[in-house]
Amino acid sequence: MRKKIFYITTPLYYPNSNLHIGHAYSTVLADTIARYKKNDNYDVCFLTGSDEHGEKIKNSAKMNNKETKLFVDEAIKGFKLLWKKLDIEYDVFIRTTSKDHKDLVINIFEKLKFEKKIYEAKYEGFYCTTCESFVLESQIFNKNKCKECGSLVKKEKQDSAFLSFKNEEKFVKKILNRDNFIIPQFRAKELENNFLKNGLKDLSITRKNLNWGIFPKNDKTRVIYVWFDALLGYLSGIDYKIGSFPKYWSKEVEIVQVLGKEITRFHCIYWPIILKYLGLKIPNTFLSHGWIINESGKMSKSKGNVIDPFLLIEKYGSDALRFFFINQFKTIEDGYFSEEKLVKTFNSFLANDYGNLISRTIQMIIKYKNGIVPKSSIVFKESEKLHQNLKKITKECMTMMDLYDLNESSKKVILMLNLLNKYIDVTKPWTLENNDKKLNTILNDLISWIYTITKLLNPIIPNGTKKVMKLIGEKEDFFYSRIFKDLTGNKVQKDIIYKRI
Ligand code: MSP
Repeated sequence: MRKKIFYITTPLYYPNSNLHIGHAYSTVLADTIARYKKNDNYDVCFLTGSDEHGEKIKNSAKMNNKETKLFVDEAIKGFKLLWKKLDIEYDVFIRTTSKDHKDLVINIFEKLKFEKKIYEAKYEGFYCTTCESFVLESQIFNKNKCKECGSLVKKEKQDSAFLSFKNEEKFVKKILNRDNFIIPQFRAKELENNFLKNGLKDLSITRKNLNWGIFPKNDKTRVIYVWFDALLGYLSGIDYKIGSFPKYWSKEVEIVQVLGKEITRFHCIYWPIILKYLGLKIPNTFLSHGWIINESGKMSKSKGNVIDPFLLIEKYGSDALRFFFINQFKTIEDGYFSEEKLVKTFNSFLANDYGNLISRTIQMIIKYKNGIVPKSSIVFKESEKLHQNLKKITKECMTMMDLYDLNESSKKVILMLNLLNKYIDVTKPWTLENNDKKLNTILNDLISWIYTITKLLNPIIPNGTKKVMKLIGEKEDFFYSRIFKDLTGNKVQKDIIYKRI
């Protein structure tokens, strides 16, 4: 049977300074979904990358006294190192300064110009450099501050190329109302109210007085607007050329794009129109997640309230941070970050619920069965009930993942762990030395469910789960086609996976 194909992307991050845990959050969400789909036997392509042009980057390089290309090259090294430390298993890293990308942007600009979707006019309005965004009057407060990020906006007046959205409102409204097009659905309503109700405005897509960007063909007087440039990275990264149908962007591919809520407008209004103009499929789902916040609001470079993910990984390990993101943040809402909460989450769920369950079970198998998993010998009420419950929750857990509700899915796994720990407390295997059949069944139940849970947790905590597979005498096979397995005869080993902090 042919594999189903899945394409997932993160936003392309600005290399104007080091990445913080907000960016790490977006990327962990996408990586967890990509790993889940790989385990579910999809042919997956996971793309991330960097959005390297624009005024903001140019200014940052200047402030750092560096030549812009050199500045971004150094930043990208940092990106890649972070993704490595965080176990981000991407397939493609697209840089918008790469030649293929630039060629594609120029060619698409030319094509749309030829087709009269791009026209020339005067732009007069506000621009926020922090957001790299043309902002409407309604998006400004105190006369000159951007509602999104609080930075000063500037008034601009210049000749510009515009992308025409004439008669496209109906199309956008229709896709916004498609099932699972934006998760959460309420953001579609917000977009409709803010950007469609009073007529969708054409987008200015060139900027003068800037030379850090992609120049249109035979035109050195301006550069192509950085958002028009960057969105096309989702295509150039998978080798799209005009007229071609790349493997990961065709009708039968399930396309999911992960992004923060503040950039939903670009992804869910402008981007689908561009794709429509190119005759390409509109993505199935945009997962628009909330922000990581602290006392001073959204964690962001411009506010200077950022937390360095390198330090957290160094201190607690990548699994701790990944699990914390997924288990403690409701994907679609904002959530508070605190290091104390991270430690608490690690201790209660990874060290206690999961780690202890594994240690207790393995210790018993070593003590009572010389380290060899016994065959289940009799059926009894608690055991049967346990299987029934856990099978049901396994299904629910996977359904939640299929709906990209990673947070809920992780909570279901915790529930499974709690049931197993309770099973030990209730059946008290250490009192069963004279009831060997019952003891065999209990130990077999425990280790078999540890196997299933380890597979379910693998997309979130790839490091620890690989080690657990070894301890229970299994290969690194995380495929869900074999999610249940009888581990009779396996040899187990003792080790501590997650040490309490
Ligand atoms: N370059 C654009 C994206 C272009 S995609 C074609 C951009 N880059 S960014 O570096 O500013 O940030 C990208 C993403 O980082 C945001 O969409 C969001 O996903 C994430 N976050 C940045 N700060 C965040 C938080 N405080 N919390 C959660 N995520 C946030 O926008």
